[in-house]
Amino acid sequence: MVLGAVAVAVLAGLVLLLLLVPPVTWHLVPFLWVDLVAFGALVRSSLRCQWRLNRRPPITLLDVFRDHARRQPHQPLLRFQEEVYTYEDVERQSNRAARALGQHLGLQPGQPVGVFLPNEPTYVWTWLALAKLGCPMACLNCNVRGQALRHALAAARVTLLLASLDLQAAVEEVLPALQHDGIRVFYLSSTSPTPGVEALLPTIKAASDEPLPSHHRAGTTASSKAMYIYTSGTTGLPKAAVITEKKLMMVASLGRLCGLRPDDVIYTTLPLYHSAGLLIGVGGCFEVGATCVLRAKFSASQFWNDCRRYNVSVIQYVGELMRYLCNTPKRPNDREHGVRMALGNGLRAEVWKEFLQRFGPISICEFYGATEGNAGFINYTGKIGAVGRANMFLKSFAPFELIKYNVEADEPVRDERGLCIRVRPGETGLLVIKITKNTPFHGYAGDSQKTEKKILRDVLVKGDAFFNSGDLLVIDHEKFVYFQDRVGDTFRWKGENVATTEVEATLAMVDFIQEVNVYGVSVPGCEGRCGMAAIRLKAGASFEGESFYTFTGDTLPSYAAPRFVRIQDTLEITGTFKQCKGNLVKEGFDPNVIKDPLFFRDDKKKSYVPLNPDTYAAILDMKLNL
Ligand SMILES: *[C@@H]1O[C@H](CO)[C@@H](O)[C@H](O)[C@H]1NC(C)=O
Ligand SMILES: *[C@@H]1O[C@H](CO)[C@@H](O)[C@H](O)[C@H]1NC(C)=O
Repeated sequence: MVLGAVAVAVLAGLVLLLLLVPPVTWHLVPFLWVDLVAFGALVRSSLRCQWRLNRRPPITLLDVFRDHARRQPHQPLLRFQEEVYTYEDVERQSNRAARALGQHLGLQPGQPVGVFLPNEPTYVWTWLALAKLGCPMACLNCNVRGQALRHALAAARVTLLLASLDLQAAVEEVLPALQHDGIRVFYLSSTSPTPGVEALLPTIKAASDEPLPSHHRAGTTASSKAMYIYTSGTTGLPKAAVITEKKLMMVASLGRLCGLRPDDVIYTTLPLYHSAGLLIGVGGCFEVGATCVLRAKFSASQFWNDCRRYNVSVIQYVGELMRYLCNTPKRPNDREHGVRMALGNGLRAEVWKEFLQRFGPISICEFYGATEGNAGFINYTGKIGAVGRANMFLKSFAPFELIKYNVEADEPVRDERGLCIRVRPGETGLLVIKITKNTPFHGYAGDSQKTEKKILRDVLVKGDAFFNSGDLLVIDHEKFVYFQDRVGDTFRWKGENVATTEVEATLAMVDFIQEVNVYGVSVPGCEGRCGMAAIRLKAGASFEGESFYTFTGDTLPSYAAPRFVRIQDTLEITGTFKQCKGNLVKEGFDPNVIKDPLFFRDDKKKSYVPLNPDTYAAILDMKLNL
């Protein structure tokens, strides 16, 4: 209870301070009060988690769910299409599944199980069934195939895979390899068309729905592994981030911290294999006893219809999702909905403003945090565009720093003593968070090398260790925190850092652009990387080189205006709508290879002109100046 003691001392000190400082001078310490209130809420939430998990036996998120199932059995937990599942329904179904898995398959406590499922109610009762058996759940991304799938299973030491019949093709593709690796595969369906894969639903349906004896979870503690959630990063194979029982509970309380209530209906279109959908959305419902409306896939055109149909009061978002919503044609009933709060991350200030203007006064709870990260921020002040505040109280709890980063060398700048250098207010820096008992970093399963790579040592003093977030942030003079970019999403050109997301936000304002993805490509003989934009045009629109030239010249610094443009029919995105840059960067700007129309920023003609093989050759020969 170190945290508790420190928190109480700090709070007591501050209350004293507030009493001593006469109210007339309070405006001299702007935000002191909101900072304090936010800190108080965080301490309360974290004390609640600790208190629960320190009990013998510990109260885990599963117990919190079961408590709601006992008190409010008939409250809907899940809505999916026309189906409704109450807390009691899900409790019973997960009992059946746990029994089938334990007795029929002989699953032992602690044995990791892979789930390969799309967004559907099955996901939720399977999660609870595994929790009841004390088995960590490895949440596989349902877009992962082949070698990457095999790697993901191996990282979490999965020996049993539960898959959806919808993913039959993906399962069959790797089945021989999985069988070779000693992994048993089952479908969570009534029948199986695949030889060697049993359908488990009949066994589950036949099992008793009585609660399981508690000995399965006898070994569970705050630090037990509850889940593995895969993070893709910008390159390479998926990494399995370890989610402990404590982390699970802390993340599931985020909704409550933002004001989620038992009577709320939360709408989740984000994939359940990531922490936002599963832990904050579904987990948030477990925590407060609310209802979750699940949708298989986000649809911009159905979004508000669904909100009206299911009486949704809270939506979950990522920034791109909000942008898609703002891009839909305006409708007279845009403001007819009961949504009071939006919970998510990655919302840029322009979209944030536009969203509020168009869809009405929705309170936006923007947070920042990585699945595997050891701390984060929440916007608790309502400052548009900010992800939170560098609150001195929070800092005492989770010591973080923004340090100077060399984008080109892709590493932190170090001084003559070999230590990192703090940035000044208003300067962009790499966010690092100290690894302590309160803010532990559990790393990635089965990959100590990748775990070590996320740890930055000798930051402020020799021998210390910080979690490297890989994100560039800015803290302004009023201590508001703004997200800038992922480290890999910033490139350097003409000695300047170009933040791709900022360029994207600017280009998205062009009237013929539907979607845009900005990245840097290598040009032989040039330092750094040169800006390129992949663009999807609005239906019926065409690319207008001259006006695009004028617009970029007026709105962007010259080093940030893309030199190359590539027109695509669709832009490749991940399951959480993040744009994929890897392949685009690799393909570069060679018109001999790329079939899409390519354009080149021609300063003489003051326009973007088609990039033909001759121009390309001239660039390579350095006859054409970029
Ligand atoms: C939504 O609210 C209306 C009015 O309160 C009610 O009639 C309707 O049944 C509700 N719909 C759902 C899906 O809960
Ligand atoms: C975040 O900022 C928005 C400003 O639009 C505000 O409405 C919302 O309440 C803030 N979030 C929290 C948790 O206070």
